[in-house]
Amino acid sequence: MLYLAKSMHQLQFGKLMEVYTESNADKAENGGLLQAEQDFYQYLQECFFTTPEAVYAIWMQNGAYVSALRLEPYKDGLLLAALETAPEHRRRGYAGKLICAVLAAFPGKKIYSHISRKNTASLAVHKKCGFRKIADTAVYIDGSVNPGAITLCAQTTEKGL
Ligand SMILES: CC(C)(COP(=O)(O)OP(=O)(O)OC[C@H]1O[C@@H](n2cnc3c(N)ncnc32)[C@H](O)[C@@H]1OP(=O)(O)O)[C@@H](O)C(=O)NCCC(=O)NCCS
Repeated sequence: MLYLAKSMHQLQFGKLMEVYTESNADKAENGGLLQAEQDFYQYLQECFFTTPEAVYAIWMQNGAYVSALRLEPYKDGLLLAALETAPEHRRRGYAGKLICAVLAAFPGKKIYSHISRKNTASLAVHKKCGFRKIADTAVYIDGSVNPGAITLCAQTTEKGL
């Protein structure tokens, strides 16, 4: 089921870290895993959840967090970022269920997503959920441009995609 957290105290941070095991391990190469998790906690508390409309979307299965993403205001809609499924739960349809549930939870909203050209798994799951390419680069919230990524967009109506 879809769970939406709009503040730090609505989020079980330890469970979220289990979803991000792989990307945290990559970041931890510089300053250690604990430091990576502390930095992320601080980012969520001081930056992410202080942004109006920002929300963490989590797919829960038997009480566990299995897939997660976050949404924050972007252009005339919301930006989907940090999509990840816990490594042991991949290829079971959880990212697809999460994204489709998010689209249904925000009818009429444009949802944008930036994806690396090389990320075949993420491109496939987004396309399966109705996302279409709208730009050949990614322009991030801070205005920087990544030519190695593309921008996709999806929008649901009250009746669905
Ligand atoms: C991308 C990611 C979130 C997909 O999560 P997932 O829960 O495994 O995805 P799903 O099981 O919902 O997959 C749905 C569909 O996407 C496609 N897909 C998913 N993983 C794929 C892969 N490794 N290779 C090719 N297609 C893939 C398939 O079409 C799949 O449907 P199928 O299993 O019926 O064939 C996951 O691989 C992940 O966490 N990767 C590392 C982090 C990352 O790259 N995040 C995206 C940043 S933009």
